[in-house]
Amino acid sequence: MSNSPADSALVRAARGLEVPRTPVWFMRQAGRSLPEYRKIRQGVAMLESCRRPELVTEITLQPVRRHGVDAAILFSDIVVPLAAAGVDLDIVPGTGPVIAEPIRTAAAVEALRPLEATDVSYVAESIRLLLPELGATPLIGFAGAPFTLASYLIEGGPSRTYLRTKAMMYGDPELWHRLCSRLADITLTFLRVQIEAGVSAVQLFDSWAGALSEADYREYVMPHSARVLSGLAEAGVPRIHFGVGTGVLLEAMGEAGADVVGVDWRTPLDRAVSVVGPARSLQGNLDPAILFAPWEVVERETRRVLAQGKAARGHIFNLGHGVMPETDPDVLTRLVELVHSV
Ligand code: CP3
Repeated sequence: MSNSPADSALVRAARGLEVPRTPVWFMRQAGRSLPEYRKIRQGVAMLESCRRPELVTEITLQPVRRHGVDAAILFSDIVVPLAAAGVDLDIVPGTGPVIAEPIRTAAAVEALRPLEATDVSYVAESIRLLLPELGATPLIGFAGAPFTLASYLIEGGPSRTYLRTKAMMYGDPELWHRLCSRLADITLTFLRVQIEAGVSAVQLFDSWAGALSEADYREYVMPHSARVLSGLAEAGVPRIHFGVGTGVLLEAMGEAGADVVGVDWRTPLDRAVSVVGPARSLQGNLDPAILFAPWEVVERETRRVLAQGKAARGHIFNLGHGVMPETDPDVLTRLVELVHSV
């Protein structure tokens, strides 16, 4: 192994190559679990903070310094490229993305314009500032997948049932596919900007795809996510594909073109290997809620995840979803040490 992010444990595990120890990072490692994050974000709105390269750099580095994780994830949000493409939206604390005028008609879909690289120049600038600070630690870029982005745009905000999203998907499939096709273009541009600026891996978040059956996922969603992932194949950085509650979708999410399939806590990694197959690595999958249990439980469950992850050609340790804001950051630090020591 050389001392470069392209040959880091994270990238090697993603490719199924030998690693000295299992790499570990946490979804939402930057954010509200850290007092230094809450302090630096005071008085700066979420979307605005994503547009300030110096602030993005500092927030992205905070969990790397504190926890010694094996990767940084760019501080941004899945709705950043939508806002950059002119969608009127806000990220409301405690709620999530809220869209001023939800997209529910053909005219609204037509009005969604493509993203230009220059719309997100602050993202490229943030990455350029980060790379020398990170040295051999890889930086993960990310974007939202078409289904998850479409769900916010159609519902107007977070949803539990995805009723309006599914109403369009089933009721007007032609319009649904046009919307997802535009979103795939936006996502592809956003990820290419990040790759060109120098990220070492990318994660495509289809956080809410678990709301679908496998058949519907394959028909309505997979072609668009596959176009994004295959559009990045030439770039040569590993592609991680993640969603929550995706036990029945893991095979399809791998087939969509992932080098690594992200697994939530519901599916044991050894079982995930049997459906995803030997040609992809896995990422996951400690239940974020376990971090609120006594340390003996955290340790036992972490050892179980690591043991089950051995079935995969490569394993990147992570939580099964993002860090909860109430998590004790010292437990995260201790967890990193444990993963590194096993
Ligand atoms: O550390 C990291 O993981 C990088 C930063 C990151 C954020 N959002 C910052 C953020 C990442 C990777 C995301 C992705 C994202 N955003 C996803 C996919 C990941 C997932 O959790 O499944 C989704 C679905 C969103 C949409 C979104 N944005 C939600 C659901 C929320 C939380 C709402 C809340 O307040 O509870 C946000 C806001 C957001 N994005 C915060 C952060 C740090 C909190 C805002 C704040 O600190 O003021």
